[in-house]
Amino acid sequence: MSKKLGIIISGSGSNLAAIIDKCESGYIDAEIAVVISNNSQAYGLKRAQNHGIETAIVNPKEFSNRQEYDKKLVEILKKYQVDLVVLAGYMLLVTNQLLDPFKYKVINIHPALLPSFPGTDGIGDALKYGVKVTGVTVHFVDEGCDTGPIILQEALQIKEIETKEELADRIHSIEHRLLPEAVKLFVEDRLEINGRLVKVLN
Ligand code: GRF
Repeated sequence: MSKKLGIIISGSGSNLAAIIDKCESGYIDAEIAVVISNNSQAYGLKRAQNHGIETAIVNPKEFSNRQEYDKKLVEILKKYQVDLVVLAGYMLLVTNQLLDPFKYKVINIHPALLPSFPGTDGIGDALKYGVKVTGVTVHFVDEGCDTGPIILQEALQIKEIETKEELADRIHSIEHRLLPEAVKLFVEDRLEINGRLVKVLN
C-alpha cells in the first residue's frame, strides 16, 4: 500500500508543487493525504486544492502555546493516517508534541549546507558571510533549529557577482529535485538511521 504524506507549509509551496508532480507522475509511490498551513494566505494551499488535495489551516495564535498548537497538527496528521511529515517551507519550529509521535518521520528542507547557516535566512546569511560554496540540505527534524540528522545535501558555487534573488533561484531549483528525492528514499524504506548518521540504501 502506498505511503501517505502530510505536508506542512507557510508560503508559496514551490517545494510542495515539486512533490505533487513526482507523486502524480508515479516517480514517488505515495499519496499526499493533507497539506497543512499555519498561514491562511499561503499560495501553497491553492496549489494543493488545484490538485484535489485536502488542506487545513491551523493558526498558532488560536492556541495558548506551541505545544497545544502542535497537538492540533498531530490530530490532523493522525486523522489522515500520515506516514511521513514533510516540512516544505514551514517557518515555525516544531515541539516534542509533534516529534514524539512521528519519531524519524519528519523531514525538512533547508536552503544552506547545514550545519552552516541554520535559521530563517540561510541564503542571505551565506551571502553575507562571504562563503564561496553553499547549497541545500534535507534532514530529519529534531528539537533544535535545523540540527537533525542529514539525509541529502547538494552544494553549489556562489558566483562572484550574484544577487540574493539569483542565488535563491538556483537554490530553489536544487530544492525541487532534492526534497522529492528524499521523500522517495523514505517511502521506499531506503534510509537507515544510526544515531546522527543516515545511510542511503541502494
Ligand atoms: C525554501 O527555500 C525552503 O528551503 C525554505 O523556505 C522556502 C520555501 O519555499 N525553508 P516554497 O514555499 O516551497 O516555495
